[in-house]
Amino acid sequence: MGMFVNCEVVLTCSSLFAQGCDASVLLDNTTANPQPEKFGIPNFPSLRGFEVIDAAKEKLEKECEGVVSCADIVAFAGRDATVLLSGKKKFSFLDFLWGGWKSGFDMPAGRYDGNVSLASETLPNLPPPFANVSVLEDMFRVKGLSLEDMVTLSGAHTVGISHCSSFRDRLPPNPSSMDPTLAASLQGQCSRGGDPTVVQDPETPDDLDNQYYDNVQKRKVLFKSDATLLSSQTTLRLVDNHAKDPQEWLKQFKAAMVKMGSIEVKTEANGQIRKHCRFVN
Ligand SMILES: *[C@@H]1O[C@H](CO)[C@@H](O)[C@H](O)[C@H]1NC(C)=O
Ligand SMILES: *[C@@H]1O[C@H](CO)[C@@H](O)[C@H](O)[C@H]1NC(C)=O
Ligand SMILES: *[C@@H]1O[C@H](CO)[C@@H](O)[C@H](O)[C@H]1NC(C)=O
Repeated sequence: MGMFVNCEVVLTCSSLFAQGCDASVLLDNTTANPQPEKFGIPNFPSLRGFEVIDAAKEKLEKECEGVVSCADIVAFAGRDATVLLSGKKKFSFLDFLWGGWKSGFDMPAGRYDGNVSLASETLPNLPPPFANVSVLEDMFRVKGLSLEDMVTLSGAHTVGISHCSSFRDRLPPNPSSMDPTLAASLQGQCSRGGDPTVVQDPETPDDLDNQYYDNVQKRKVLFKSDATLLSSQTTLRLVDNHAKDPQEWLKQFKAAMVKMGSIEVKTEANGQIRKHCRFVN
């Protein structure tokens, strides 16, 4: 599935948090689900790329009908986006010696799709951009993810874009810990009427790399939930380690993606394999 160059797909995985990894976020509004997850405040209108999943599903249904769930497609897309976005820089001889850290990884399959999708489950389940370390730690722990996983997965903020409304409270004239140069630049970009978008990592906006941790150290990050990683000794140490070791961070990121892909997975007993990812069968 080489088409998943769209970094939005990585972010789709954060939607696993609402109902678990059961593709509930893909469901459109219908009489069965009049207010689905995709219209929840954290997802709308940010979450995009649904048509990429639809295209994959259509091909798969033609090849082997009723076998690959939409939940598995989302998980595979997360894996493929991770591999493609992290493999852009040229291999050096040293990378070669380190061996394969930019290679693919196995994402277990066999998930079933859920048939319930509720916008009301997004706010309580998705970590908000203004969360502090203790809130983040708790929200990840509830989903079976450790503090280490939380810091590792925060690295996903190294790609993609964000709406200004997610961090406007950190821009001048409000006092915040943001680097003043970045704050001034964002203030300029965000002053174009409406709710514009900006890149999340101004240094390497299109690469999934450990630049994020360098940005955290330098206070060049958008969200309070990023800046807060400096506020505890444990998370500070994890940030420093990730900033120093790109290989180890990527290895841990891949492992955390697999872990995230196993959150509250549905089985044949409580799920189905949808024929179309936007509708229950
Ligand atoms: C679904 O939501 C969209 C956007 O809010 C709206 O335009 C449409 O009428 C809704 N459809 C149904 C069936 O509720
Ligand atoms: C983190 O935020 C929560 C919720 O707003 C608050 O109750 C808690 O006191 C905060 N913790 C710290 C250490 O600031
Ligand atoms: C949703 O799935 C459950 C479990 O498979 C089933 O009992 C229920 O009838 C389904 N509901 C809808 C609206 O499809």
